[in-house]
Amino acid sequence: MTSSSFDIRRVGGRIGAEVLGVDLSQRLEPGLVEEINGALLAHKALFFRGQDLQDADQIRFASLFGELTTAHPTVPSVEGQPNILPVDGEEGVRANRWHTDVTFVRTPPKASTLRSIVVPPYGGNTLIANSAAAYADLPEPLREFADRMRAVHTNDHDYAEPKNQAAAERRKVFTSRRWRTEHPVVRVHPESGERGLFIGGFAQRIDGLSGEESRDLLRILQAYVTRPENTVRWSWAPGDLVLFDNRITQHYAPDDYGDLPRRLHRVTVAGDVPVGVDGERSRVVEGDDAAHYTPVGAAR
Ligand SMILES: [Fe+2]
Repeated sequence: MTSSSFDIRRVGGRIGAEVLGVDLSQRLEPGLVEEINGALLAHKALFFRGQDLQDADQIRFASLFGELTTAHPTVPSVEGQPNILPVDGEEGVRANRWHTDVTFVRTPPKASTLRSIVVPPYGGNTLIANSAAAYADLPEPLREFADRMRAVHTNDHDYAEPKNQAAAERRKVFTSRRWRTEHPVVRVHPESGERGLFIGGFAQRIDGLSGEESRDLLRILQAYVTRPENTVRWSWAPGDLVLFDNRITQHYAPDDYGDLPRRLHRVTVAGDVPVGVDGERSRVVEGDDAAHYTPVGAAR
């Protein structure tokens, strides 16, 4: 993709591009924001290097793409920064499970920004997968099948036993309120119209199937999302900001940095209600509309 305002250097063959020549600490003109949004739709994940940003800069940048969510439905924010979620390995946060952010609520975020605060000298990368490429890779019969399926996502399921006290505490907070939401397995992207598999770690049950059948089928579909061709791997450096489209990606943070410090700040842009290929929208099965977390005014 070419652009008049910045250069793009693709990173993966199917997902991810570095944006060069944009200083996110500056106020960005609406035309430039429009171009960045276009690049986001095309590449799904954008990487900005060598930035010198404070929390306020990250919040301002994320706000260019829409209203923000608060940090998380259950996890506390960074002290005094209600929109910023600390992603900190020392707090037992190891997101080494493929997922799309906060899909257990009816309106999961549209986009996530991650900014490096402390990065380990090795390891601690972030992998991001293109779920539209995964959908396109499905054999026709599986695709038709997926088009008709709906899955229940929840924040409270059979997680592995926590490794330590911090992880156990974190899990308790994470599940202190419980949501279950039914989403289409294939989501039509509201801006691009692209179809993508909308599953990931919080998707636990396919409507009409047993738990065992659900797991088997989700595993088959998920294998298309996580095949290496559909992913990009980002090695964090100080001054990095990553923006990804949470409506059409999944991500994974390998837990391969031991006790080395790793800290990111996450700010997410509020999303709309997912819609399936039949026009059917997501619905809450258990819990509320999470209005304390995400604006739902336009969602009804
Ligand atoms: Fe995440």
